[in-house]
Amino acid sequence: MTDTTAADLHRSLEEHLTSTRDDRLEGYREFLRIPSIGALPEHTPDVRRAAEWLAASLEAAGVEHVEVAETGGHPVVYGDWLHAEGAPTVLVYGHYDVQPVDPLDLWTSPPFEPVIVDGRMLARGAADDKGQIHAHVMAARALTATRGGFPINVRYVFEGEEESSSAHLAAWLEANRGRLAADVAIISDTGFFEGNLPSITVSLRGLMYAQIDVVGSPVDLHSGGFGGTVENPANALAQIIAALKGPDGRVRIPGFYDDVEELSAADHAAIAELPFDDERFRVDTGVPALVGETGYSTLERRATRPTLDVNGIWGGFQGHGAKTIIPAHAHAKVSCRLVADQDPVDIFAKFSAFVADIAPAGVTVGVQDLGGGRPSRTPVDHPVTQAAARALERVFGRAPLFTREGGSIPVTADFASILGLPVVLLGFAQPHDNAHAPNEWMLLDNYEGAIRAIVATFDEIAALPR
Ligand code: BES
Ligand code: MN
Ligand code: MN
Repeated sequence: MTDTTAADLHRSLEEHLTSTRDDRLEGYREFLRIPSIGALPEHTPDVRRAAEWLAASLEAAGVEHVEVAETGGHPVVYGDWLHAEGAPTVLVYGHYDVQPVDPLDLWTSPPFEPVIVDGRMLARGAADDKGQIHAHVMAARALTATRGGFPINVRYVFEGEEESSSAHLAAWLEANRGRLAADVAIISDTGFFEGNLPSITVSLRGLMYAQIDVVGSPVDLHSGGFGGTVENPANALAQIIAALKGPDGRVRIPGFYDDVEELSAADHAAIAELPFDDERFRVDTGVPALVGETGYSTLERRATRPTLDVNGIWGGFQGHGAKTIIPAHAHAKVSCRLVADQDPVDIFAKFSAFVADIAPAGVTVGVQDLGGGRPSRTPVDHPVTQAAARALERVFGRAPLFTREGGSIPVTADFASILGLPVVLLGFAQPHDNAHAPNEWMLLDNYEGAIRAIVATFDEIAALPR
């Protein structure tokens, strides 16, 4: 490509993006208005409506073979454009399902009535992940409108169950392996680093999610008539939970750390070099102190060490005042973030065996597997990672950091193991964007930059030596 052509392409892209800005933001808002909460059954029709909306806008963007594909759960939206003969094929992934919105009263405006405040789009899904997939669709539209097509081949796979551990996606990938042939997967569902510094995520944690159910008598008992003669399920649950972790922050489940890859001296050094301020992070998070496993820095604990956390706990009397009972049952949802090479199935087995082992007499203790996902590492030195890094630098004016993240995207490991694809995590959300919390927002500068960086990444990939 000569310099003149590159400059022409850049100018026509900017002209297109400038003249379509209002329409684009209205489309973004329209997408956000559909309450596609994947986890809540009453929203199942909304999730499908979001899939259909997305399919229609992909098609309007000039993407072909667009389909709302059945998975047995929420559908996958698929589309492709495969006319760049001899060029690489990129599989683009994101998710259109969103997290529930409770507690509703903490939102400054209704979660599904998007508003732009101070240059930010405020709505559930604005950043995680509808804003990021909408940027992809807008990049596709810009390319077909200004150049009549893409510089590379693309396949889009947008799913509706990411926030529910991608329950049906692995089987769908297996079943569709034949038509998902690609050279690399690009996932846009991560974010920039603290301070909104451009970043490419190079590792994600996995997840094991379980529920503990402790049952005593068939009904609540009078604690005067029965206290001292039976085990109390809530006490028993507290005892179990207390035994799962030590005061040093280490998980006490036998074998839990067996497959944990320890950090090398070089890893410690690379992490220590990242611009991160513990005190700033503490203040932004709003906690009185940062705590965790001894021997590791905050950043190391957040992204490279496994954890065990209670996500919810309930049982017994929750009303006003005092009610003297021994509750019939008590429950907790417990999850572990996992790191390479821990396996969620293995960790669940170790977890349930340990819970059974330490369960006090006098109650029945059950453990349910609520799903999970494997941890993943992605290659820093892959040519497409480097192409994406150049694109980010071009658009955001700063070379990206390579960072490890504590969150999980279950499909990342599946792309590698099922489709044999290297994965590049090209995400644009901001740290502290309130993802999963009230008042989620996306900086419009990042959303607009994302569109340009996606186009630039495709151009960089097209220019790679073949
Ligand atoms: N986009 C997040 C994953 C993420 C979070 C990446 C933070 C990087 C930093 C994704 O939508 C998510 O929330 N994943 C769930 C997965 C789980 C339900 C299996 C998560 O991490 O809790
Ligand atoms: Mn996400
Ligand atoms: Mn999420």
